[in-house]
Amino acid sequence: MSQKEYERLVKKGRDFMRHLPNIVLDDWQSDQELKKPQPPLCKASVSKEIYPLKRNFQDIEIKDDLTSILIKRKSHRVYSEEKISSNQLSYLLWAIQGVKDIRGDNYATLRTVPSAGARHPFETYLIINDVTGLKPGLYHYLPLEHSLAFLDEIRDIPETINEAVCGQTWAKKSNVLFIFTCIAYRAEWRYGYLAHKPALIDLGHVGENLYLAATALDLGTCGIATYDDYFINDLLKIDPKEEIVVYLHTLGTVKKEDQDKEQAFYAFLKEQQ
Ligand SMILES: Cc1cc2nc3c(=O)[nH]c(=O)nc-3n(C[C@H](O)[C@H](O)[C@H](O)COP(=O)(O)O)c2cc1C
Repeated sequence: MSQKEYERLVKKGRDFMRHLPNIVLDDWQSDQELKKPQPPLCKASVSKEIYPLKRNFQDIEIKDDLTSILIKRKSHRVYSEEKISSNQLSYLLWAIQGVKDIRGDNYATLRTVPSAGARHPFETYLIINDVTGLKPGLYHYLPLEHSLAFLDEIRDIPETINEAVCGQTWAKKSNVLFIFTCIAYRAEWRYGYLAHKPALIDLGHVGENLYLAATALDLGTCGIATYDDYFINDLLKIDPKEEIVVYLHTLGTVKKEDQDKEQAFYAFLKEQQ
C-alpha cells in the first residue's frame, strides 16, 4: 500500500469517528420522517426448531458485588473445557440482549443494554460447542421469545471457530462463540447515514455486559475483532449487504490455576523490556 493510500484510509476512518452532523440543521429526512414502514424489531427465525430458555435466574448464584466484578473483569483466553449449563447461557443472553419491555405500539424494544433511539440493530448467533441440554451446532437468539433457534449442524466445531477468528487457536476450547451482526437498516430507518457510528457505540455496551455477566458467573470471555467476515457470512447464510458481522466473543470455563498461562499471552511485553 502506498503512503498516500494509507493516509486516505486513515482519514476515512477518522472521519467516520468524527462526523455526527446536527440532524436538525440538515435538509435530509430519515425514512422514519418520510413515514416509511418500520423494519421489524428483531429478525424472524428461519428455523422451526426452537429451544425456549429459562427466564427465571433464581438458581444462578452470583457471589460478588458489582465493585468486585468490575475489578475481576478481564479477557480470558485459557479455557478449562468444563460444562456450561443452558441456564448460565440463558442468563448471559438476557444480560446482553434481553428484552425487558416494548415501547409504544411495537415501536422499540427496551433491553438490558442501551441503544441509540432504542433501535437495537443487532442479531446474536451462537456456535455452541459444549452447553448442557443443547446439542452442538449453530443457533440464532430470539430476544422477544428469549429462545434459541437451531440453525445447523457443524461438522468440526473447534476448527470452525478457529477459522472464524482467523486462526486464534486458543478460541477452539470455547464452550460458545458469540457472533454479533448488525441489520443496518434497523438503525438507518431512523438515523440514515448517521446510523453507523452510534450502532458501534451500542455494541460496546453489549460486549461489556457480556464481560460483566460472564465474570459474575465465574466464566471467561474475550472480545474478538479479528475475524473472517467472508467465512462467517457463508456459515450464517446471511445477506452481507444488509446484515454485517460486527463483533465476536468467546466464552469458556476458567480456572484460577491457569492465571500464569493467561499471562503467557502478554509475554511479548517482557521481550520489549
Ligand atoms: C473490540 C475488542 C476487540 C478485541 N479483539 C481481540 C482479538 O481479536 N483477539 C484477542 O486475543 N483479544 C481481543 N480483544 C481483547 C483485548 O486485547 C483486551 O480487552 C485488552 O488486551 C485488555 O485486556 P483486558 O480485557 O483483560 O482488560 C478485544 C477486545 C475488544 C474490546
